[in-house]
Amino acid sequence: MYRSNTCGELNASFIGKKVTLAGWVQKIRDKGGLIWIDLRDRYGITQVILDESRDSAELLGIARSLGREFVLQVTGKVVERESKNDRISTGEIEIYPELLNVLNPAQLPPFLIEDETDGGEDLRMKYRYLDLRRNPVRKNLELRHRVGQVVRRHLDGQGFIEVETPVLIKSTPEGARDFVVPSRMNAGEFYALPQSPQTFKQLLMVAGFDKYFQIVKCFRDEDLRADRQPEFTQIDCEMSFVEQDDILNTFEGMTKAIFQEVLEIELPAFRRMQYAEAMQRFGSDKPDLRFGMEFCYIKDLTEGAGFPVFDNSESVIAINASACSEYTRKQLDELTEWVKRPQIGAGGLVYVRFGADGEIKSSVDKFYSKEVLQTWLERAGSKPGDLLLILCGNVDKTRKALNELRLEMGGRLGLRDKNKFEVLWVMDFPLLEYIEEEGRYFAMHHPFTSPKPEDLSLIDTEPGNVRANAYDLVINGVEIGGGSIRIFNRNLQAKMFSLLGFSDEEARKQFGFLMDAFEYGAPPHGGIAFGFDRLCSLLGGADSIRDFIAFPKNNSGRDVMIDSPSSLDPKQLQELSIRVQA
Ligand code: AMO
Repeated sequence: MYRSNTCGELNASFIGKKVTLAGWVQKIRDKGGLIWIDLRDRYGITQVILDESRDSAELLGIARSLGREFVLQVTGKVVERESKNDRISTGEIEIYPELLNVLNPAQLPPFLIEDETDGGEDLRMKYRYLDLRRNPVRKNLELRHRVGQVVRRHLDGQGFIEVETPVLIKSTPEGARDFVVPSRMNAGEFYALPQSPQTFKQLLMVAGFDKYFQIVKCFRDEDLRADRQPEFTQIDCEMSFVEQDDILNTFEGMTKAIFQEVLEIELPAFRRMQYAEAMQRFGSDKPDLRFGMEFCYIKDLTEGAGFPVFDNSESVIAINASACSEYTRKQLDELTEWVKRPQIGAGGLVYVRFGADGEIKSSVDKFYSKEVLQTWLERAGSKPGDLLLILCGNVDKTRKALNELRLEMGGRLGLRDKNKFEVLWVMDFPLLEYIEEEGRYFAMHHPFTSPKPEDLSLIDTEPGNVRANAYDLVINGVEIGGGSIRIFNRNLQAKMFSLLGFSDEEARKQFGFLMDAFEYGAPPHGGIAFGFDRLCSLLGGADSIRDFIAFPKNNSGRDVMIDSPSSLDPKQLQELSIRVQA
């Protein structure tokens, strides 16, 4: 028997008992004839104490030979502590050891295994198994486990069944880039790893499964960011005989259950907002509603003053930053440089200060009288002490840049509280999106998304104005999930592929299996997929999903611990019929 108890378990009720613990040496202190050992495992820390006047030289010798992270077994008596520590669950007791057994010595770890560590990101990733010993990282994975359990319990209770779909599938041209896997048995041919189980879950609906879910790995070869990993996990769901409302209600229920059980937060009914409204008011299809700072359109109020920058702009849009009128020249210059960065892409920044004393000053004083500036402030609802920040230009670009500025200002003003959750459904996305560089339409969600029936008449004449039965779940400005009601009619699906520039033959080759299935009694169906990693990091109050993945990749898509990706042995390449150019 390695242990009778865990390191987080013992309290006053165990006093006088003999126990055996096993764990890692967190800390040793050797002072004035006393030696303290903090023994740690997943469950907690227990203090072991040796006394020169009580313990044998042999036992003291072993204790003095220990180092951090040694794996140690301790047998001894539980005694009441003189000075109790109410910050830990075992703080009432300590162990007088009779036996110390080093199960495995350890090298000095390359960084501190403490809540606050001195290890940089790279080092911690290289020794991820040591990083995972740290409380905050382990707690993140425990949270992830709990979320997964709630999801499974909840969906099972609703009659969903979990079905596994294949990981070796077929490359398709839509969406992100695929990761591919060469087939040895079929020389020159490749599998692709799924970007999502989309077509399979639809086939399960054709098969009559009615309610499906899966907590499933997905793979996308795209540029990585804090909320994107090349392999990530979805809570993937699909239902038959449903309309948009059925899906929204079902998954509102699931999301509420998660918040309730994991954070003990009761979420109010989710707001619903049209895509067009979200773009108009916040310049984003995933608005962060924890704070206001809504867009204020003032182009009409700027006309006729001879300010060419505004006159030549399609739109002039402002946001009001509360209590920022005291921003210094330097701060404003810095903000101007910030919006001009290529990632934001604004041409410049115009401001109007509404001083606490009521005085109005602006960077465009030369062109606009106080009275005119006053009309802008009025429309934006500015109060004395506020600062109006204005961008102008092409409407889409200006909205996009102002969205970034709004988020930045929200952050700077401390309005993006991690303990506050603002949830909404964004609905009725456009079906298609025209990509200038490619010279064609792309599906905004994916090619299986159904157009809104009332917009179907526009599909030939104004495809860009057709809305889709598609929805996203947005929490605190993060896209946590997305889905749609699907096309289940072969002809409409064929039409969709032709809008996306597929020839009949290409469509048949890529997606013939699905279109065929639509001819064998496909029920109306729809679904959604949640980003599981994103959901966990949001619940855990973190910005990066990496902290919630046991073994994540870095920003270059590398696993620095196992050193992957890596090159292959020439023999292996030959077997796979792959020739690598020197
Ligand atoms: P979508 O592509 O919107 O939909 O993906 C669903 C959710 O998955 C998360 N997500 C990611 N998380 C981490 N890293 C990534 N690289 C990444 N990419 C996406 C997001 C997103 O909302 N099959 C459809 C769903 C459906 O229609 O039912 C799909 O995959 O949180």
